[in-house]
Amino acid sequence: MEVILIGSGNVARLMGKLLTGNGHRIQQVYSRNPVHAKSLADSVNATAVGDLLLVNKHADLYIIAVADDALPGVAASLRLGDKLVIHTSGSVAMDILQNTSSTYGVLWPVKMIRSATEQLSPATIVIDGNSENTILEIANIAAGLSAAVTRADSNTRIKMHMIATFTANFSNHLYHLAADYCDRENIAFADFFPLIEAAVEQLREQHPRNTQAGAAFRGDRHTIEKHRKLLNNNPRMQELYDVFTESIRLTFDT
Ligand SMILES: NC(=O)c1ccc[n+]([C@@H]2O[C@H](COP(=O)([O-])OP(=O)(O)OC[C@H]3O[C@@H](n4cnc5c(N)ncnc54)[C@H](OP(=O)(O)O)[C@@H]3O)[C@@H](O)[C@H]2O)c1
Repeated sequence: MEVILIGSGNVARLMGKLLTGNGHRIQQVYSRNPVHAKSLADSVNATAVGDLLLVNKHADLYIIAVADDALPGVAASLRLGDKLVIHTSGSVAMDILQNTSSTYGVLWPVKMIRSATEQLSPATIVIDGNSENTILEIANIAAGLSAAVTRADSNTRIKMHMIATFTANFSNHLYHLAADYCDRENIAFADFFPLIEAAVEQLREQHPRNTQAGAAFRGDRHTIEKHRKLLNNNPRMQELYDVFTESIRLTFDT
């Protein structure tokens, strides 16, 4: 397919790399920042454009991977007839593209993508489209990127996006705080890897309600107080400790 990337951030860069690897050709990269457009365009052998009016109207696929807030404006500035246009957001309704083209949809990679991310697989890709044919076309593109492709409408996708915030963004933030604490206290964060991996592994077998453990689960107030005291100089971690402790205690009535 002849592909045009609208946006030059983390997702556009990864899509460009993976689609090129799958035999597609990136024709153009658009960014409002010419340096960003050129940098990504050079890496995928494409032409950089800094004006949406210069976007070629004869490609097969247009991927709009810009900041969520910028999506309405970018979509409103593009008129692409019946060309296949998709955005990559988990939180923006598909219909934002309804005036951009008569063939549109979504391809949302459920993964935390940063500049160093080289692979999408094995991430789930959530797709949607404005007709069964469009969904099939987008499913084919997604299948080249990951084996786990699922369909969800905009209402379900935003709920999945919120849950991804719990399961990845928040949990990663907790790991971040824990790793920093370990660094300060000369504790090897790596000693916790088996614990973390086992907790994730058992999710495949059991509902997480059946695997909860710890002081709050047992209602062990003495240990909870000892932990809280250790965090007296770290009010942000102490606050999170209290919120999670309360939630676990309410859940298990301890
Ligand atoms: N990163 C993730 O983990 C992830 C995962 C799944 C889906 N997504 C979705 O993918 C999309 C892109 O995310 P990203 O992570 O690639 O973001 P990003 O790295 O922050 O890049 C955002 C891109 O949007 C452009 N942009 C921002 N405001 C703009 C505006 N007003 N007009 C035109 N372009 C504008 C930026 O241009 P400049 O370079 O000029 O700033 C940049 O090219 C979003 O919809 C996001 O929700 C992200």
